[in-house]
Parts: sequence; C-alpha cells; structure tokens
Amino acid sequence: MQSQVTEIAQDTYRISTFHPDYQIQFNQFLIKDDEPFLMHTGFKRMFPATLAGVASIMDPATLHWIGFSHFESDECGALNEWLSVAPYSQGLCSSVGAMVSVNDFADRTARPLADGEVVHTGRHRVRFLSTPHVPHAWDAGLFFDEIGHTLLCSDLFFQPGDPGPVIESDIVRPARESIQAGLAGPMAKDMPYTPYTESTLHRLAALKPRTLAVMHGSSFHGDGQQALYDLAVVIKDLLGGR
Ligand SMILES: [Fe+2]
Ligand SMILES: [Fe+2]
Repeated sequence: MQSQVTEIAQDTYRISTFHPDYQIQFNQFLIKDDEPFLMHTGFKRMFPATLAGVASIMDPATLHWIGFSHFESDECGALNEWLSVAPYSQGLCSSVGAMVSVNDFADRTARPLADGEVVHTGRHRVRFLSTPHVPHAWDAGLFFDEIGHTLLCSDLFFQPGDPGPVIESDIVRPARESIQAGLAGPMAKDMPYTPYTESTLHRLAALKPRTLAVMHGSSFHGDGQQALYDLAVVIKDLLGGR
C-alpha cells in the first residue's frame, strides 16, 4: 500500500491510502502548523504507508495533535505508533471516548475535549464538536478548522472505490448511492438515526464549511452548508423511521 498526498486546503493535506481488501480509501488529514494536527491515524497495519505520507510533508516526530472522531481502528488504530514516533504528541477525542476506551488503549492519555472546545495549533484554530451517534458511536465528535473553513467529517459522505482527491460537483448523490447500496450489505446499519441526527447535521451545516474532508472517498470544495443540509435529507429519507 502507498499513500497519495494532496493539499486540499491551505496547510491541509489529504493522505490517501487505498486498501485493496476493503476496496475503499482510508484518508488521513494533516494540518501543517506550529503544532501539527493529524485527523485519524488509519489502521495500525496501514501505519507505514501513512507515516511515509506524513514524512513527505513534514518531520513526523514534530506531530503534536492526533484527533479522531470515535474509537474504531481506522480512526485511531495506529494511535500508539504515532505516540511512539512523535514523542510530544497527544491524542484528542471526546471526553466520553477518553473515559470509555482511549485512555485504556493508549500508551499516553488523550486530552479529553468538551463540546465546543477549541485547540489552537498556531495559524489554525480547530473546534471540537461533540456529535454522539453521528456518523456513529456514542463517543463520536468532529473537528472544524475555523481558519481554513474545513470540516473534518470522518465517515460522513462515505464513497467507495478509489476516487480523486477532491470533487467540486455534487458529493451528496454518490453519498446517497453508497448509503443505499450499503443497506443490502454486511455493513448495513452503520449509522443510527436518532433524535439528535438531524439537529447535529444542521449544526454542522451552520458552520458553513468550504471544504469537507472525507475519510472514505473524495473530499469536497464548495457549499458545504448546502451539502450537509442535503445529506440530512438523504439520511432521514433512507435511515429515518425504520
Ligand atoms: Fe467509523
Ligand atoms: Fe471510517
């Protein structure tokens, strides 16, 4: 496996690794700043490819923050590998995630974040939003770079295959198609529809992101607010009320 690196927004790099077994991409995002911030670690077994991608951008030992949405292997499976390579780095996750899973699993404790808490990385300012069960898991949260207007949106807008780094056209249609296709497969029911789902997606839309940094599939440049409103309709339509 090899990673492809693309700068998708100012100081923000997409490190994309296509996994042939899963036939999907696992994309990590690096905000290169005084205190560099990596969003998701990727799988532990993917670490050499992710490390090589980061090393093509900066010295991996200088990584400072390791953020992720929820406790799953593609989000934080290589957390300990990163903590070892970058001696001053620290995980960033929800308070629930730290308490329930991460601080047992991790070799160094993570910094638990409250809803709305801001992490200053230098030129950038990254806000944590607690988003329980969006995209899934009790401990879920997402990060928004308020300077770059980039929403690091984890599994939202999932697309299969090995598409290009960024699309500027419709991202909601392929996301809808993949949710619909997934309903018939073994990975169905990955996203619960809860009393908080719509309000959470609308809260994300209100951030007016210009870039959506997608973990699986192409990222998006354009009207992120409209894309999130449209995704909320799709999710309600396909997953709500079942
Ligand atoms: Fe996930
Ligand atoms: Fe994921």
